[in-house]
Parts: sequence; C-alpha cells; structure tokens
Amino acid sequence: MDGNGRWATNRSWPRLVGHRKGAERVKQIVRCAPDLGIEWLTIYAFSTENWKRSTEEVLGLMGIFARYIEREADRLAIEGVRMRFIGDRTRLDAKLQALMAGIEARTAHLTRLNLTVAINYGGRDELTRTLRKMAVEVAAGRLAPEAITSDTISQALDTGDLPDPDLVIRTSGETRTSNFLPWQASYAEYEFTPTLWPDFSPDELARIVARFGNRDRRFGGVRQA
Ligand code: IPE
Ligand code: MG
Repeated sequence: MDGNGRWATNRSWPRLVGHRKGAERVKQIVRCAPDLGIEWLTIYAFSTENWKRSTEEVLGLMGIFARYIEREADRLAIEGVRMRFIGDRTRLDAKLQALMAGIEARTAHLTRLNLTVAINYGGRDELTRTLRKMAVEVAAGRLAPEAITSDTISQALDTGDLPDPDLVIRTSGETRTSNFLPWQASYAEYEFTPTLWPDFSPDELARIVARFGNRDRRFGGVRQA
C-alpha cells in the first residue's frame, strides 16, 4: 500500500488524513477479496524503515492500527477472516502488541480469508532474526547444518504458516519491491499500478486478478502442452 502521503499532500491535507483514507480502503479490499477468489491477503502496513518518519506520523499510524483492530474485530470474526501479523512486534507499544495477540487468538479458527498485516516488517530483518534463531539451535547442537533446507527456512520465517505469494501488487507508481517478502516472493508475479493506495478500488483489484489468471507461470519449467 503506497501513496497515502501523496494522496493527502495533493489535496493540501496532512499526511495522516491519507493514512486514514488508506485504512478505509483496507476495509473495503478485505471485504471484497474472498469474492475475487483470494484466500490469502498480506498487506504491508509499516516497514522497518518507516521509523524514520516524524514522530507524529509514526504515532498516528500506530493509532490507526490499534483502532482498526479494535473496531474491525467483530466484523472480521463474523466474516470468517483469520488475522495474523508478521514483522518484529517486540518494538511496538505493549497495548498494540496485546491487541494483535488478542485478535490472532480470537480469529485463529477462521478460514474464509487469511489476512496478514506486516507491521514493523522488513524482509532483511526477518531473515536476520530467523538466521540468528537457527544459529542458536546449531550452536546448541539441536540443529544439524545439513538439516537446514529451503523448506525449513521457509517454515522458520514469520510467514511459516503462509503459502508463498502468487501475486504482489504495489500501488503509487513506484517500481520497487522495498524489502517485502524477498524470500517468499521469489516466484511471485508483480503488478505495479500508478493508482495511489487511497484510490485503489475493488474494481481495479478485480482487473488485476483477472489479468493474473491469464499469466503463464512456469516456475522455471517449460510451457505444458
Ligand atoms: C502508505 O503510503 C504506506 C505506509 C507506510 C503506511 P506512504 O505514506 O508511503 O505515501 P507516500 O509514498 O508518501 O505518498
Ligand atoms: Mg511511500
């Protein structure tokens, strides 16, 4: 989700107004995702690099996350949405951490949509934390180096319970991947749209998903007859 700040600045409004509008979009996209055949949806809400922003913006974003969880919990549960979080949550406010753990537990049995929100997430940070954990296991003699495989690394990441993404969409015209699921998205298809996140509609998502359905994915193999 990119472009909240520009969306607001274009209207001479504070950046936080754009973030609030962006959160409204998240609600709408989460609601329409299952109808488009999406069972796993991961949204990048706050990166390990976003701490560089002003205190006002960082605190504003954290407030939006907390309110989203508090206000949406009932509806997510009714709609069958299982909510998870990835990223290093130890740096987040204790109250926000408690809200996150609470909604994860409350929705753990739901299956209609798997919604994952990346907060204080960075792909390199995730790999670093995971490698440290594995190194501790190796040093303690509980993990043999030969037992480390592509699959065991995938399982040890924050996304251990999630399938690899098929499609990654970035809004706002930037054509970077910016530390989002670098290990997991090795075979993902990418879509870059100039639309700013607050303007990203269910219709546009439907068009992108339809285009994705027409792509020929070979995973390094050759086209099947
Ligand atoms: C939203 O867009 C992404 C978040 C960190 C929440 P931005 O805040 O990056 O918006 P731009 O790039 O400044 O327009
Ligand atoms: Mg941005």
